[in-house]
Amino acid sequence: MKPILKTRAEEDVDYFPSSPKKDRSLMKAVSTLVIFMAGIVLGLSISAHFTRYFSTHSDLFFPKAMYSANCDKECSSIDRFVKPVHLTHGMSDEELFWRASLVPKKEEYPFERVPKVAFMFMTRGPLPFSLLWDRFFKGREGLFSVYVHSLPDYKMNVSEDSAFFGRQIPSEEVEWGTVSLVDAEKRLLANALLDFSNERFVLLSESCIPVFNFPTVYEYLINSAHSFVQSYDEDSPHGRGRYSHRMRPYITLTQWRKGSEWFELNRELAIEVVSDSKYYSLFRKYCKPSCYPDEHYIPTYLNMFHGGLNANRSVTWVDWSRGGPHPATYGRESITKGFIQSIRNNGTACTYNNKPTSLCYLFARKFAPSALEPLLNMSSTVLDF
Ligand SMILES: *[C@@H]1O[C@H](CO)[C@@H](O)[C@H](O)[C@H]1NC(C)=O
Ligand SMILES: *[C@@H]1O[C@H](CO)[C@@H](O)[C@H](O)[C@H]1NC(C)=O
Ligand SMILES: *[C@@H]1O[C@H](CO)[C@@H](O)[C@H](O)[C@H]1NC(C)=O
Ligand SMILES: *[C@@H]1O[C@H](CO)[C@@H](O)[C@H](O)[C@H]1NC(C)=O
Repeated sequence: MKPILKTRAEEDVDYFPSSPKKDRSLMKAVSTLVIFMAGIVLGLSISAHFTRYFSTHSDLFFPKAMYSANCDKECSSIDRFVKPVHLTHGMSDEELFWRASLVPKKEEYPFERVPKVAFMFMTRGPLPFSLLWDRFFKGREGLFSVYVHSLPDYKMNVSEDSAFFGRQIPSEEVEWGTVSLVDAEKRLLANALLDFSNERFVLLSESCIPVFNFPTVYEYLINSAHSFVQSYDEDSPHGRGRYSHRMRPYITLTQWRKGSEWFELNRELAIEVVSDSKYYSLFRKYCKPSCYPDEHYIPTYLNMFHGGLNANRSVTWVDWSRGGPHPATYGRESITKGFIQSIRNNGTACTYNNKPTSLCYLFARKFAPSALEPLLNMSSTVLDF
């Protein structure tokens, strides 16, 4: 009798019978394959997810525009720095005013700087005289820039060849008679200061028209030793009466001035106005109610620190002769050759660069939209543009 001794191999064999062993190894191979395939599918989907995640999120952290290859040349070129192409930006007033206050220490420019006049329009909505202004600007590209402050949600509709096309600056709500009007003026100045070629800054409204052609206006402003901000002392409830003693000792009654909102400033003074926060804050706090910061802040501030640079008169004609809180508005019937001539030279004697002249006004207000047609009709004959 042969003892039944099971070798380990036999045991193994018994334990792992041959046929089931084959099956199992097949199953193992199949399951390995399944797991492997699942792994591939899972891996692919995860990697796709990650790719999506990173491509969307990397835009947030590393904007393509900033890092794309051709940006090195375009975005950091001197052209872009000294003359922003687009007026839209994400700067707050605080950031914008700070940037606008930067002054180059170096006197020479590394580019050909042709001084420009910045025409800054403050309006709520449409500009009824944009067609007249476009005739005025036609062919003078490179000598002027246009900026428009409107209601924040107003979209200007002008043709692509208009000087106003794409010239709206990021704007805020303005409440007339409050300091928000000064904020809008500073916002216009600051946006215009970002263009280093802008040398003179004129504030205009939607009811303003030019009464001389572009070359006359340009020469007059660019060659003037003074800025044109009306600034006078008026001993009346509408003048000194608006002064608050709480502004003492920083602003005294003898320094207090009044003047039309529609200013013209040179670059130096525009930078001063945008940079000031000390005196601006006093007006913000104490020039209310019935004070009208827009009629006092810049006239007083210039009188205190830069009087010698100011002509103390406005270059914008207006008719207050009828009395009341608002100046006269002229419509279609009023527009005649004689009327325009009387604005151009209304008998006022003024000084220009310390010499007497009868040419005192370059712009005029207020005009109703109905004045557009007759003005366009006489633009080439009377207005000379
Ligand atoms: C814009 O102006 C054009 C031409 O005057 C006019 O045809 C168009 O309807 C206007 N678009 C809007 C949105 O007002
Ligand atoms: C304007 O007024 C200031 C005083 O604020 C004076 O110093 C300056 O000479 C005046 N400008 C002109 C051109 O008269
Ligand atoms: C000329 O116009 C201005 C308005 O800007 C006015 O103050 C002045 O009195 C006018 N002069 C004459 C002589 O009518
Ligand atoms: C403007 O000129 C046109 C064409 O010459 C004429 O038909 C129109 O009546 C004029 N309008 C005014 C207000 O003068």
